[in-house]
Amino acid sequence: MPGFLEVERASIFFSHLEHPWSIFELGEFRGLDLGFRRQNQRTKMESPFKAEILKGKVALVTGGGSGIGYGISLELGKHGASVAIMGRRKHVVDSAVDALRSHGIPAIGIEGDVRKEDDAARTVESTFQHFGRLDILVNAAAGNFLAAAEDLSPNGFRTVIDIDTVGTFIMSHEALKYLKKGGPGKDPSIGGTIINITAVIHYPASWYQVHASAAKAAIDSMTRSLALEWGEDHGILVNGIAPGAIGDTAGLTKLAPREILNQVKQEPLYKFGEKWDIAMAALYLASDAGKFVNGTVLVVDGGQWLSKPRLMSKEDVKKLSRREETRSRVAPAGLPKSKL
Ligand SMILES: NC(=O)c1ccc[n+]([C@@H]2O[C@H](COP(=O)([O-])OP(=O)(O)OC[C@H]3O[C@@H](n4cnc5c(N)ncnc54)[C@H](OP(=O)(O)O)[C@@H]3O)[C@@H](O)[C@H]2O)c1
Repeated sequence: MPGFLEVERASIFFSHLEHPWSIFELGEFRGLDLGFRRQNQRTKMESPFKAEILKGKVALVTGGGSGIGYGISLELGKHGASVAIMGRRKHVVDSAVDALRSHGIPAIGIEGDVRKEDDAARTVESTFQHFGRLDILVNAAAGNFLAAAEDLSPNGFRTVIDIDTVGTFIMSHEALKYLKKGGPGKDPSIGGTIINITAVIHYPASWYQVHASAAKAAIDSMTRSLALEWGEDHGILVNGIAPGAIGDTAGLTKLAPREILNQVKQEPLYKFGEKWDIAMAALYLASDAGKFVNGTVLVVDGGQWLSKPRLMSKEDVKKLSRREETRSRVAPAGLPKSKL
């Protein structure tokens, strides 16, 4: 379907505009191609990291059964890590484990809900029992849907906060004992890594996502607080990754339904990011490459959260500033007019 993916991507990124799809009224945004042309030119990009950078490490990925969480699990595994994935739907977790194993990755799946402390404790414990250590926790589990704030029930708001924010805290809290330096199976001087997957929807705001925006903003704050406390006390690095719109994920299709997008069959703007892009950021943070990075949220969105409507063309701005410069020399602004 020509332009479908591109349309989807644009509407999600610019959902802070009056209409999610109002980007299509702003032809200038076509200039925001950034790195995506490079992606178009390639077929399948190889990882720039060496295959053994995570050799001997063990990662636990919540939400690792699908989407971005699976993409991260796959790349962590391809770079030497053993991987445990957690999710509520057994069949999703099972088929993801099969897929990981088909790549030769030692993988296990654990059915569980990040909101439940017992599930979290069991998941972390099973990971340790199976692999003998835990080095990397990726908190990717999340829930989201579109709803106008006035139509959103407090329960709907609470559910998203519970999964995203409280779930991230519960999993981190349960994993602490294994991630800290000197913890079971750990080196006495080096702690593990936590990577929290958030978003850019709260930079500065997005339409119809008050729940997820609040949840992700809180996680970003938690990332900094835990980085400070657990970095200092336990040698654990805590960072975040804020993905832009990533193609072929449930998150994206839920937030940019085809019914809306099919109404706007405009020309292609640019491509989505890929799960691979987020996985590469995770590899950077989880490997020694990121050993001095703590408390940061790495935005991986091609720079699009910075985008704003262009008020005038470059040619017009040149003319205007020349005219204003000349005018201000003739009659400097702000000087009192003397009547003497
Ligand atoms: N897709 C994007 O464009 C995009 C952009 C920015 C940020 N993100 C973030 O990236 C992450 C992954 O999203 P995605 O789009 O790839 O969607 P996804 O495939 O739906 O991933 C969410 C995963 O979390 C699991 N999950 C949800 N609630 C859970 C719970 N209570 N306990 C345990 N697991 C739970 C889901 O499995 P079960 O339902 O089986 O539990 C699913 O595997 C999320 O944090 C999302 O906010 C995505």
